[in-house]
Amino acid sequence: MTEPTPPNQGGAPASASPHDNEPTASAGTLSKGGRRGVPVYAPVDSDRVGGGSAFPSAKAAAETTGSSAVTTDVAATGENPAVGDALNVSRETADDAFVGITEDDESPLAREMIETERKRRALEATDFPRPPTTRIITVTNQKGGVGKTTTSVNLAAALASRGANVLVIDSDPQGNASTALGVPHHAGTPSIYDVLLDDEPISKVAQRCPDIDTLWCVPATIDLAGADIELVSVVRREFRLHTAIHELLKGPGKNLDYIFIDCPPSLGLLTLNAMVVSNEVLIPIQCEYYALEGLTQLIKTVDMVKKHLNPEIHVSTIVLTMFDARTNLAREVASEVRAHFPNQTLEQTIPRSVRVSEAPSFAQTVMTYDPHSTGAVAYLAAAKDIAERGHTASHSGGQL
Ligand SMILES: Nc1ncnc2c1ncn2[C@@H]1O[C@H](COP(=O)(O)OP(=O)(O)O)[C@@H](O)[C@H]1O
Ligand SMILES: [Mg+2]
Repeated sequence: MTEPTPPNQGGAPASASPHDNEPTASAGTLSKGGRRGVPVYAPVDSDRVGGGSAFPSAKAAAETTGSSAVTTDVAATGENPAVGDALNVSRETADDAFVGITEDDESPLAREMIETERKRRALEATDFPRPPTTRIITVTNQKGGVGKTTTSVNLAAALASRGANVLVIDSDPQGNASTALGVPHHAGTPSIYDVLLDDEPISKVAQRCPDIDTLWCVPATIDLAGADIELVSVVRREFRLHTAIHELLKGPGKNLDYIFIDCPPSLGLLTLNAMVVSNEVLIPIQCEYYALEGLTQLIKTVDMVKKHLNPEIHVSTIVLTMFDARTNLAREVASEVRAHFPNQTLEQTIPRSVRVSEAPSFAQTVMTYDPHSTGAVAYLAAAKDIAERGHTASHSGGQL
C-alpha cells in the first residue's frame, strides 16, 4: 500500500525547473555530442550505481525533493513556486515570445504558443490525485516505433514532476527508456536482466533519475537481448517480475504511486512478465495507416493473460501518439480507435513535436528538456487524465 506524501507538496521539483533547458554538468549523463560535457553513460552520482540499494524509500526521496523545496519556499515567500514558475516563462521564451504578443495577434504560431502556455499554467496549478495503491502499468504494442518508450518516460516524468513517486522499468534490450531518463545502462550495469534471471532485488538495481528526484529507473542493458530465450527454461518464467515487484512493494518501494513497464516490440516472455504483474495495460497507437493492425493480437494476448495468469489486468488507456490534426489520415485513425475503445482512449492526443524527439539525445524527457513545448504540455495533460481516471476508478470500485 502506498503512503502518499500529502497533496500539494508535489510542485515542480527543484531540479525540474523550466530553466533546465540548458543541461548542467552536475545533472547526469549525456549521449555523444550533448551539452553536458560528461561522457556517454558515465555514472555521475556514486550513490546511484553500486554501493548497496540505490532505491531509498520513496517517501524519504520526496522529502529531499521538490516537495520540501516547495514547502520551504512557501514558508519563506508566501508564494507557491509551482505557480510562480508558471508565471515565469522559460528563458527561451522570456525575452521574446510572450512580450508584445496579444491574443488577437494575427500569427497562428503566436496563438498556439499562448494557448499552450495557458494550458501548461493551468495544469501546473492543479493537484494531480495520487492513487490509493500502486498502479502498475504495462506500456505495450508489438509494433515498433509507435511511442511506447516516449510515452512511458514522459508520463512517468510528468506524474513525478507533480509529486508522485514513480518507477520506470525498462524492459526493452534497446534501453531507450534508460537513455531518456539519463541513467547509465552500459553492459555490466546492474539491470532488469539481473532481476529476471538472477533474483536480484529491484531496489538493488534501480537508479534515481538525475532530473527528477521522485523518479527512478530500472535500466535495461544489452544483456536483456537474450532474456526472452534464457527465461524459457527458468522456473515460473512468467512470474519473475511479479515476484520481484511484490517484494519491492513490501519494502523499499511501498510508497510508489506508479510503476511503468516499457516493453519491447514483441509479445514474448518479457512482455508477458510485465502483463502478469500489472493491473493496467496502456497502448500507445501511432496515428498512421497500419495503426490498428496487430491490435487484435495484442488484445487477445491481454485476454489470455487475464484468463490464465492475472485476472486483474485490463486495457485501461490508449494514447494516440505523433498525432497531426492537419492530416485526414490521422483524424480517421483517431476516430476509428475511439470508436473501438471509447472508454480507454484519452481525449488528449500527443502531437508530433521536434522537442519530444530531441529530448533523449540530451538524456532527458521532454518534461525537463522543454516543459513549455506542445509535446511536454500534451504529456502533462495526458498524465493528469490518467491520474484522475485512476482516482475515479478506484473510488467507484470499478475498472477503468
Ligand atoms: N510525439 C512525438 N513527436 C515526435 N517524435 C516522436 C514522438 N513520439 C515518439 N517520437 C519518436 O518516434 C520514434 C519512436 O518512438 P519510441 O518511443 O522509441 O517508440 P517505441 O518505444 O514504440 O519503439 C523515436 O525516435 C521518438 O523520438
Ligand atoms: Mg521503445
